[in-house]
Amino acid sequence: MFMRKVLGFALIGARAASAAAKPTLASKQYETLPLGQILPEGWLYDQLVVQTEGVAGHMHEFYDLVAKSDWIGGHSYYSYLEEAGSYWFNAMVPNSVLVKSSELYEKSLEFFHYVLDTQDESGWLGPEVGTDKPRYLWGRYPFFFGAIQLVEYDPSLEPRFVEAMHRFIRLANDMLRKGEGVEHWASTRWEDFALALQWMFDRHPDGKEELLIDTMQRLKWSGAPWEDIFSEELFPKEAVENLENPWDEDLFWHGVNLAEGMKALPATYRFTHNASDLEAASAGWDLMFRYHGRPSGAFNADELLSGLEANRGSELCLVVELMFSGSFLFQVSGDLKYADRVERVTYNALPATITADMWGRQYLQQQNQVAAKNMTPNPFPEDGPDSNIFGLEPNYPCCTVNFPQGWPKFVTNAFVTSADESSLTQVYIGPMSVNTILAGGNAVHVTVSTQYPFSDTVHISVVADKPFLYKMRIPGWVSDEGVRVDVDRDATYSVGDDTLEYTKGGARFLYLWLPAGASRIQVELPAEISIEERPHKSVAVHRGPLNYAFDIERTETILKSDPREARAVDLQYDAVADWEYAIDPTTLRFYMDEETELPAPIWDYGLAPVWMTVRACLIEWPLGGDTFAAHPPESPACVGEEREIVLSPYGTTKLRISEFPVFQSKGRNTGMAGDKQFPVHEL
Ligand SMILES: *[C@@H]1O[C@H](CO)[C@@H](O)[C@H](O)[C@H]1NC(C)=O
Repeated sequence: MFMRKVLGFALIGARAASAAAKPTLASKQYETLPLGQILPEGWLYDQLVVQTEGVAGHMHEFYDLVAKSDWIGGHSYYSYLEEAGSYWFNAMVPNSVLVKSSELYEKSLEFFHYVLDTQDESGWLGPEVGTDKPRYLWGRYPFFFGAIQLVEYDPSLEPRFVEAMHRFIRLANDMLRKGEGVEHWASTRWEDFALALQWMFDRHPDGKEELLIDTMQRLKWSGAPWEDIFSEELFPKEAVENLENPWDEDLFWHGVNLAEGMKALPATYRFTHNASDLEAASAGWDLMFRYHGRPSGAFNADELLSGLEANRGSELCLVVELMFSGSFLFQVSGDLKYADRVERVTYNALPATITADMWGRQYLQQQNQVAAKNMTPNPFPEDGPDSNIFGLEPNYPCCTVNFPQGWPKFVTNAFVTSADESSLTQVYIGPMSVNTILAGGNAVHVTVSTQYPFSDTVHISVVADKPFLYKMRIPGWVSDEGVRVDVDRDATYSVGDDTLEYTKGGARFLYLWLPAGASRIQVELPAEISIEERPHKSVAVHRGPLNYAFDIERTETILKSDPREARAVDLQYDAVADWEYAIDPTTLRFYMDEETELPAPIWDYGLAPVWMTVRACLIEWPLGGDTFAAHPPESPACVGEEREIVLSPYGTTKLRISEFPVFQSKGRNTGMAGDKQFPVHEL
């Protein structure tokens, strides 16, 4: 049945291709800025420096999967699984530019030239050149993303890349016509190539429009049918290990593929001009988070989709790919719900799963994580016992080479222009600066000073040659009455009253029509504490972009240290304090210390200047196996005295509870604690 469906689609597509006179791509609502025009400032800059001084900025020195000695001939991951160097390059190009590291930039440049220098006669790029290894397309896709960023940063490199791409695309098109180049992973990741082809179409079609569109269509027909996988009828509504898979391909339910596949329908829309593709993308996105969403903003997939339970895992690769896909979905559709989600993932799921010094990362993170150690048995049907250890490459190495794209691409996608380049839009909130030239030669410089998400106050200073429209995303968690805007001069502003741009779900734009010259704007974004209902009558606690968790005091044990690099250690964390708490959510109180300078690193135990207190009591809460928390008990009885506990931002915790059983405090209504009913929302 499914084969027929896919085939039917191919026939429709083929007719459309022959009928279309001059192919075009639908334009995106927003365009990205070239790499280097947006830079991190304040704590975000510090975070990028921490990443650079961690394994991300050092792996090329010792990690054989990406170290240069293994680019040619060696038995490295790059040469036999193709993609490690490609992933590393995709991340290090923006990382090096954002922290102005000439050493990392030179390394990236060397890799770029190496790959292009070794392109063979046929047009093939990559480690299969000069070997008889099978040629599958997808290992090159992260290289394309890295190269696009690099040539936008240094346009003198662009002709060389474009020429190589045209040769490769010709070859890829021939291969697709012959049914070659697509195996399991290329089948699910076709959209990444489509994005690179669209970049070529937008900037360097060079008379090859038909070939470019034809290649996009062939990729789509030969690849995963995402509109069906993400359909209401077929999308899995629970952890998949007990479901019958309607596909003869397990990888269609694989978390990282799904995170990447979220780009497929917006990419499809660009060459079909079919608005239903964008609606299908939006509906699929909602299905994902309704049935597999985490309070951290990510979704659950410990290899395959794994439902709503707090002890299941979210893979780190999935976290960073979801961020990148969400940014693209926003840019194509203009729907701010994607931007809200990306910011939530960035400020919760991403830092939570990497050590504060960024030398160790997990493969899987758990929302309730009471130990990070060898788990036998473990709650992940498809992953190994080391999956939640923090280290160089526990479980699989892919996340080590792929995670470093997370922070840099969050920054490079934080500002976009309108399609006509007349206005600038601030999509993500955090300390950053922008230097760009808008339409009509309007040179604009923007500095955003803020400790957000650890503060509600955002200072924006703008210097522009000409009047222009500055738009800022007001997150969905800020109430309409809450937004306060203060502009120091003759600018006008409004919030979310443009019916074309207003989006459902609460997020909206602040429109500031700024005059030429310097303007200073202060925006206050206060948020309410909110409660999210989770399985087994448990609750998760949020305020603004941050999820809050009980940070379990822990010991750290070094399990092993890499012989090539002493800082690359595998760490085990064990709880040394009780964590079996139920909370009374009506007693939550939020605190913020606005005077604090943020330390670097900031994402660590007890460092954040925001926290909550809540009345809690110990309950009977068993372990599953001996290393992970069982499901939160429903309607538990207290087995100890009530006490007050502190909740911290999820991203600063390594061992934690963040889906809590609920009890009714005796302190409620006695003045001992608050008695506020906080809004309940669905994320
Ligand atoms: C438009 O897109 C939708 C959703 O992806 C799809 O079901 C429909 O068949 C498409 N229509 C055409 C004419 O291709």
